[in-house]
Formats: sequence, structure tokens, C-alpha cells
Amino acid sequence: MTFPERPRRNRQSAAVRSMVQETSISVKQLVMPLFLLPGESTRNEVASMPGIFRYGEKAMLQQIEQALQLGLDKFILFPAVENDKKNSLGTYSYSSENFYLDYIRKIKARFPEAVVITDVALDPYSSDGHDGILKDGQILNDETIEVLVKMSLAQAAAGADILGPSDMMDGRVGAIRQALEENGFSHTGIMSYTAKYASAFYGPFRDALDSAPKSGDKKTYQMDPANAREALREAALDEAEGADYLMVKPALSYLDIIQTLRNFSTLPIVAYNVSGEYAMVKAAASKGWIDGEKVRDEMLLSMRRAGADIVITYFALEFAEAQNRLASQR
Ligand code: PBG
Repeated sequence: MTFPERPRRNRQSAAVRSMVQETSISVKQLVMPLFLLPGESTRNEVASMPGIFRYGEKAMLQQIEQALQLGLDKFILFPAVENDKKNSLGTYSYSSENFYLDYIRKIKARFPEAVVITDVALDPYSSDGHDGILKDGQILNDETIEVLVKMSLAQAAAGADILGPSDMMDGRVGAIRQALEENGFSHTGIMSYTAKYASAFYGPFRDALDSAPKSGDKKTYQMDPANAREALREAALDEAEGADYLMVKPALSYLDIIQTLRNFSTLPIVAYNVSGEYAMVKAAASKGWIDGEKVRDEMLLSMRRAGADIVITYFALEFAEAQNRLASQR
């Protein structure tokens, strides 16, 4: 006897659908990015990212406290550095004066349970707006790594749990891992920006930090959006050099890369749902052209379905708020 195939039987009610649901997303898998400013109580909104703010110290601590109450306990921190602190070598990044290091200490003192992930790259500190040292139109690889190592040790000493090298210099994960081991920071993790593409989706982030390149672009260090095999090469290197997490960035246009790395590595895979992806949803939703909350949830779920264990997203707080609202209605 032959029966017609009827996949719809498994979709016939909410309860049946919930039983056959293959992928889910929870607040525990999300990381909330925070843009930080020097100064006590300032908080200002990023024009191209409605709902996302730059926080001074007090506002930052309040925001973290609120997030923790919602079950959101992982944070990735990015400094907005004043122009007069920037120079071509990014030396403020490891200076004892650096407010960012001070904020890390304050967060860990007040909320030891919060997971603090940092940014390791020159661009917030560079007068050239590049992730490495620019000389005669070239980004110097090994000279940049020396600065990245100093920055990493300073962040580890401040109490960071996980360092996030976002610069894409060759060999930086190994150099940072070795320096951490030699200096008593064997417990400090490395979340490597493994497959970071030279993407147009970073625009709003560069607005937030005023960190756009003053000349040229980032194509000699960030990857070509046309390439997938090359992501495997970067992943193999980062694993061998001691990374604890492999990141793909951006997320939405690179779900294939997330899936590829998921199948290739046993390490946790991180998707960075970047600023431009957030801005597009907010812009269309504000015009009433899409349902922003449903699109948000579908996007985050798709990153999990592709194989991401962890998602860094500007939607983290509003997702956590929505989940908590749902839970209180039950
Ligand atoms: C730079 C850095 C960038 C982002 C994170 N770290 C921008 C860039 O490479 O130019 C982008 C994040 C986002 O767009 O949300 N080290």
C-alpha cells in the first residue's frame, strides 16, 4: 500500500510543532555588546542604532545590573576613545590611564558572575582608524601583534574573562595565548574573530566608536566576502594557536560559513550579528515594513540553526526582555 507523504501532520498544532522543533534559542546563548565612554553618568544613543547606547561608568553598571536580572550575563565591551587619546600606535590601549581597563575592573568587582569579553584591536585607539599599525600605506602585521599582546595582558590583568582579538593579524592568537600562559593568565580565554569579513555591515559600529578608517579600507586583513575555503584555513590556524572559541562575522550573510566551521571544529562557534544587520531591521520596522520583533527572533534562530552555539547581538537586551515578559504571562 502506498500512502501520500503528509509532512503537515507534524505541524498540526502548537504542541506538536514544539515537539518536533529542531532548534531553539535562549538568553543564555546571547552576548550583549556595550559601547563605553569615559565619564561618570553619560548615556547617549547611537544615531544609526536606535535603542543602543554609549555608556559612561554609572550608566554601564546600571545597565549590566538590569541585564543580569533578565538572565543576560555575558557582555562584550567596546571603548569609544576620545580623539586626543588616539595615536598611530594605539598606546592608550594598554596605558594604566585607559578608562576601559578601569571599567573592566569595576564590572568584575561589582558583578563577579558576569562574563566579560573584551575587544583586542587597534582601531578604537588608532588615529588612522585601522586595526593595525599603518606605515606607508601598509598595515604592519608583527609590529601590530606586539601592541595586541600588551593590550591583552592589560585586559587580562584587569580581570577580563575572555579576550576577543578582532584585528585579523596573522599569528595573533598564538602570540596572545603564549603571553597569557607566561604571565599567569592560563584561565583567560580567547574568542577569536576567525572568519571576519571586510564587510559593509559594520557602518553603524564605526559611527558608534567614531573609528572608521581615515584612509583606505580593511581588505588587506579582513577576509574577502567571496571566500569560504579560506575560512577553514583561518579556523585551522586559530585552533592550532589555542583559540577557545571561533567566531564568524557578520552572521546573516555568512550562515554558510557558520555551518562550515560548525562541521569542521569541536570548538564553540560564535556568530556576530553585527551593527548593520541590527540597523536594517530597526529601520524597516520603524517604517512599518516588517514586524521587527518577529524578524529579530527568526534571524537569531537562523544563526543557531546554521550551527552557532553563541550569538553576539545588539538585540540581546530586547530579546531577554521579551522572554521575561512571556515567562511572566505563563
Ligand atoms: C574592529 C571591529 C569592528 C566590529 C567589531 N570590532 C568593525 C571593523 O572591523 O571595522 C564591528 C561590529 C559591528 O558592526 O557590530 N576591530
